[in-house]
Amino acid sequence: MCGIVGYLGNKEAYPILIKGLHRLEYRGYDSAGVALVNSSSDLKVYKTKGKVADLESYTKGKDVSGTIGIAHTRWATHGEPNNVNAHPHYSQSESLALIHNGIIENYAVIKEDLIKRGYKFQSDTDTEVLVQLIEYIKNTNKIGLCQAVQLALTQAVGAYAIAVIEKGNPNQIIAARKSSPLVIGIGDDEFFLASDATPIIEYTNRVIYLDDEEVAIIRRGEEVHIKTLANVEKTHEVKELELSLNELEKGGFPHFMLKEIYEQPKRIAEAMRGRINVEANSVALAGVIDNKEKFLNARRILIVACGTSWHAGLIGEYLLEEFARIPVEVEYASEFRYRNPIINKGDIVIAISQSGETADTLAAIELARNAGAFVYGICNVVGSSIPRNTDSGSYTHVGPEIGVASTKAFTAQVTVLSLIALTIAHLKGTIEPDRYQELIKELASIPAKMIRTLEVNAQIKDFASIFTYAKNFIYLGRGYNYPVALEGALKLKEISYIHAEGYPAAEMKHGPIALIDAEMPVVVIAPNKGMYEKTISNIQEVKARKGRVISIITEGDETVKKLSDYTIEIPETEECFVPLLASIPLQLMAYHIAVVKGCNVDQPRNLAKSVTVE
Ligand code: G6P
Repeated sequence: MCGIVGYLGNKEAYPILIKGLHRLEYRGYDSAGVALVNSSSDLKVYKTKGKVADLESYTKGKDVSGTIGIAHTRWATHGEPNNVNAHPHYSQSESLALIHNGIIENYAVIKEDLIKRGYKFQSDTDTEVLVQLIEYIKNTNKIGLCQAVQLALTQAVGAYAIAVIEKGNPNQIIAARKSSPLVIGIGDDEFFLASDATPIIEYTNRVIYLDDEEVAIIRRGEEVHIKTLANVEKTHEVKELELSLNELEKGGFPHFMLKEIYEQPKRIAEAMRGRINVEANSVALAGVIDNKEKFLNARRILIVACGTSWHAGLIGEYLLEEFARIPVEVEYASEFRYRNPIINKGDIVIAISQSGETADTLAAIELARNAGAFVYGICNVVGSSIPRNTDSGSYTHVGPEIGVASTKAFTAQVTVLSLIALTIAHLKGTIEPDRYQELIKELASIPAKMIRTLEVNAQIKDFASIFTYAKNFIYLGRGYNYPVALEGALKLKEISYIHAEGYPAAEMKHGPIALIDAEMPVVVIAPNKGMYEKTISNIQEVKARKGRVISIITEGDETVKKLSDYTIEIPETEECFVPLLASIPLQLMAYHIAVVKGCNVDQPRNLAKSVTVE
């Protein structure tokens, strides 16, 4: 939700900032802007509604010189996406410019007070209030920018990652964060700042992650100084990034989403590397083994997550209950955090998040930790806030996911949950040794089966255009495939803007069946496992009402094929691992339908990949 980037060094800042904004565009693309201090110490702000490419057109022929600057790509919270509400925001005298990711919740009170003191506001944003407040405090107290930022932020309630520069000072950026991410890159005589490491990796792999309520003073020719809002000096370890630049490129694919769908076999293998050993018949997930007693004695597991990660959590519930025999509840983090949940000592909370920055999930973690629960994170982005705020955890190791619609992160989350369930089951003795071995072997074969599953791409591409007429879709699945139905429906909604609902197949007759007619495409995940016969009955019910059935079936299943209008075959696997394969054709279907409809697949309207506001 909003991406921020900054540069101070010996190079021209503008191209670095623009490139950085492109990398962060997955965080929002309602408007974009840049502020630069040039060699005459003038502070210039250029901003416009639209994407980073629109900003580039807007700045053509303008003076974008300067070796210090800050830039922003916006996902609108306060105020519609227009030129005025775009960041950076000037202070009243235009001597300060500020970018912000987050929400200042008490902006109205501060604004009212500043208006009484003669301040005039241009925009509807909460951010402008912050820059005006900083200026007001700086001028009235006759103090430097850093101190003014510290004082202003003690008054701000909410979340922020900010960066401020000032006219007349081409040598300093002040940055700060609370509940929104901020990474500082340290190069040779140059500094970078960004919402994540992707704009930085090209120039340096040495970074510092700021903690909440810390301010970074980035000055030319000096080390980065970090202080708390209360002015206590802090020292931070400089971390080394493991990201590689080609992971941030499309690699010949037309969209990041397609690239990420195709990466799944390799990435899932990476998620299992060192954790699964087929020869030795063992699964060893360090985070679980290191906390063996906690998992062995867990009376209950609560899974908290949002969006696609919540769907992975639902599959986790099936896995953990079936194999580890521990009761599991799966909660939307946004509900959990506000409903006064019962959390007992001895409960384990598993937080799942691709980005590691989702505001609601972070708040749920804080609540759980305060209540004494042991919190385990399943995250993708290394060094992000969730892994830093949990007691232990496992990374999914799928590399950067840039397409806004999550694909490889989802299957990797399910893989890690499978590893957790099998590790606990083995430790607890709730699984027969033979069964444990069979499942390990099967899980290890999933990457190869994913490669075969991807062969359905051409077939899906062919029939995708038939369904662009649809206004609605229904997705049905039972057992492990119910969450797959939810996820399939979400993928279609997100990128093609076709309304879609996922249902447990048997629930269809309690309502959704009323929607079925000859126009309604119904996607059924119907592998030859689990409640196969019952799923067939559900397909019959759809056909009896002339619905158009697209079924995901096990290779060679003629029975369901005969009943369906379209079938997509996936390799045979264990019931518990079907989600890992069945998700792929659903991702491809959403992708191709969206492409045929001319939608922006990687940057769907109104969405952002990292939701750092609640
Ligand atoms: C946003 C993204 C989704 C993601 C959800 C949770 O809505 O667009 O793809 O599933 O946030 O994000 P997280 O990073 O916590 O998994």
